[in-house]
Amino acid sequence: MKVMLVCGARPNFMKVASIISAIDDYNSSSVSAGKIERLLVHTGQHYDGKMSQSFFDDLGLPQPDVNLEVGSGSHAEQTAEIMKRFEPLLRKEMPDVVLVVGDVNSTIACSLVASKTAYDVRSNGGASRPLVGHVEAGLRSFDRSMPEEINRILTDAISDFLFTSEESGRENLLREGVGEDKIFFVGNTMIDTLLKHRARSRESSILENLGLSRKSEATVQPYGVVTLHRPSNVDDRNVFGEIIAALAEVARKFPLIFPIHPRTLNRIKEFGLEGNFRSIEPGRRSLDVAPGIYCIEPQGYLDFMQLMSNAKLILTDSGGMQEESTILGVPCITLRENTERPCTIAYGTNHLAGVRKENITNLTFRLTAGTNANKRPEAPPLWDGSAGKRIIAILAEKLIREHNSEHVILERD
Ligand code: UD1
Repeated sequence: MKVMLVCGARPNFMKVASIISAIDDYNSSSVSAGKIERLLVHTGQHYDGKMSQSFFDDLGLPQPDVNLEVGSGSHAEQTAEIMKRFEPLLRKEMPDVVLVVGDVNSTIACSLVASKTAYDVRSNGGASRPLVGHVEAGLRSFDRSMPEEINRILTDAISDFLFTSEESGRENLLREGVGEDKIFFVGNTMIDTLLKHRARSRESSILENLGLSRKSEATVQPYGVVTLHRPSNVDDRNVFGEIIAALAEVARKFPLIFPIHPRTLNRIKEFGLEGNFRSIEPGRRSLDVAPGIYCIEPQGYLDFMQLMSNAKLILTDSGGMQEESTILGVPCITLRENTERPCTIAYGTNHLAGVRKENITNLTFRLTAGTNANKRPEAPPLWDGSAGKRIIAILAEKLIREHNSEHVILERD
């Protein structure tokens, strides 16, 4: 069986890391029914070292077999460019399965190409077309102004295997008419990677480098972590201004460390908001980071995990951090009106604040006034480090064992 794995943007790398590791485990297991050949494709949607290569280094990922090097562009340009470059690769490699993860433009672009590609040469007796698997299927914010929501709905509609990470995924897919037999509740691949690398992340020296702790003393200065990159939050001058005003008020109580996404940095410059930020001199050793919002570069995976784990609070519009903070037990204030990950609210420490200054500051001060009282002890079901293994076991069962062959002929529905 040949599996083509697609990644393109920062949050994809943690998800494919779990699946690659599961494939390697499967291949080295004596009970495997056949080998899985894997091909890792990077679309090049994210390309800066800090947004891409540093994750490959931190996670010990193999270099991509192919990089399509599409770069940035409008949604149409980026999606179309990925599709154009992906199609000949697919025809050349003829994988049995294309696995896409998450909800970025690379996800919809490659699933759309794969779902419409029929192989015209079947010299190896392989599949007549690739089957498409969507990892993190069924999540819905019910907000179609989010480009990711469109990507999710469309990818799910054309996928053959829908691997869900939380129970809401199944309900949403069934409501949309997806057949029960296509839905597999496997757990969360991003959490697989978090659990695998958590111990290593504790060796990071990011806290000392930022002056938030001293290695000789076990003390860590209270601080919050902020990330923002959603177009709806940072591309609108008024919304972004309101969020920054809320952050400035919070930052009077304790410093906020803000690793800046390139999109957000561009907007800060464009809107002339630089005056709201202080910078940290890397390598300082003191424990005296004063109140303020501190912009730093995007961080690698292990440093960022250490930064999140020790924070008093996280303020974010990211999807993945809502999940990671649930497992880390750090209160998370989500700067959005909705979440496609409702289990992080039910099981975790996640709270929706929207983007109004008063809501953000009130919630922040309420959550940081006492101890972490909202934390529930248990993790969401199947967020146990084995989601990647479940995905590979399901694919192997369907494509190798059931057909008792490494290459099978699968026809369209
Ligand atoms: C994308 C995803 C979003 C995901 C986010 C994670 C889509 C529609 N959006 O948003 O779901 O949460 O990645 O970061 O796929 N840029 C750089 N260097 C890079 C990459 C981007 O400077 O390596 C800049 C470019 O100016 C680019 C902008 O950031 O135009 C936005 O990048 P893009 O990939 O279009 O979207 P993100 O905002 O990163």
